[in-house]
Amino acid sequence: MTHLRGLGYLRVQATDLPRWRELAIDSLGFAEGTGPDPDGLYLRMDERQARLIVLPGDTDRVQAVGWEVRDTADLAKVAADVEASGRGVKELAVEECAERGVERAISFEDPAGTVVEVFCGPVLDHSPVVTKWAQKFHTGAEGMGHVVLPTTSPAETTAFYTEVLGFLTRGSMKVPGDRRIQFLGINRRHHSLAVCPAPHDEAPGMVHLMVEVDELDAVGRALDEVNKREFSISSTLGRHTNDKMISFYVRAPGGWDIEYGWDGMLVDESSYTAEEITADSYWGHDWSGSEPLAAFVPR
Ligand SMILES: [Fe+2]
Repeated sequence: MTHLRGLGYLRVQATDLPRWRELAIDSLGFAEGTGPDPDGLYLRMDERQARLIVLPGDTDRVQAVGWEVRDTADLAKVAADVEASGRGVKELAVEECAERGVERAISFEDPAGTVVEVFCGPVLDHSPVVTKWAQKFHTGAEGMGHVVLPTTSPAETTAFYTEVLGFLTRGSMKVPGDRRIQFLGINRRHHSLAVCPAPHDEAPGMVHLMVEVDELDAVGRALDEVNKREFSISSTLGRHTNDKMISFYVRAPGGWDIEYGWDGMLVDESSYTAEEITADSYWGHDWSGSEPLAAFVPR
């Protein structure tokens, strides 16, 4: 059983903040939040101060993937489990927690080298969440969405998330080389994480972030806007076979994608069994026009 409740936040650093702003706020319709770095982009999806945090840096890469637990007692249990697995755990300082808008947090690395943060006590912002398309992001008990992380050691990385952090397997898909993309869940969202075989563990350390909205029209409007602003569409609109999401993928500055979707399924654990999909979509999701993802470009 996992102590993690959902994907809480994603912190990335980026070289082109203006273009990020144009993508996240002007096109995808995230609400603008506030945070300690005056040059940072703090993106709200709900009552949290920020879910997606984009900070200025000299390279484009993920800084940390944040997972939420119920309280300090569960935080201590996760820290003990990770330490027992042989990985070092660092407690974040008071200032670092303040920067993240959380009460307490710990940090450690997964086998792929991704910095994982686990936190409790998110600080809320009770002002209205003003999104561009008047859409509501699907967060709540399902967390902010899902991330797909690249790894050169997929079996070890998957084992860490399932055996140490308690993620449930939520199916897989074979990829060339007799390997699998493994989908993993911690709540009713079909997957909060996917572990994806990749040729290197270097930056940016991300394949995609998925966020979900409550209206198909918002997906369509966002798609029109990213086209108008000449962002690269990695994948056309389509419906996935596993989480049933209707979505498109747009290339974010930095070589990874944001998947923007609607109508994801909710898993009923009393009847669910982990399946193997043989195609990722029922229709659409044409990747033929995609520029190569930085995570898959061999070094
Ligand atoms: Fe996805």
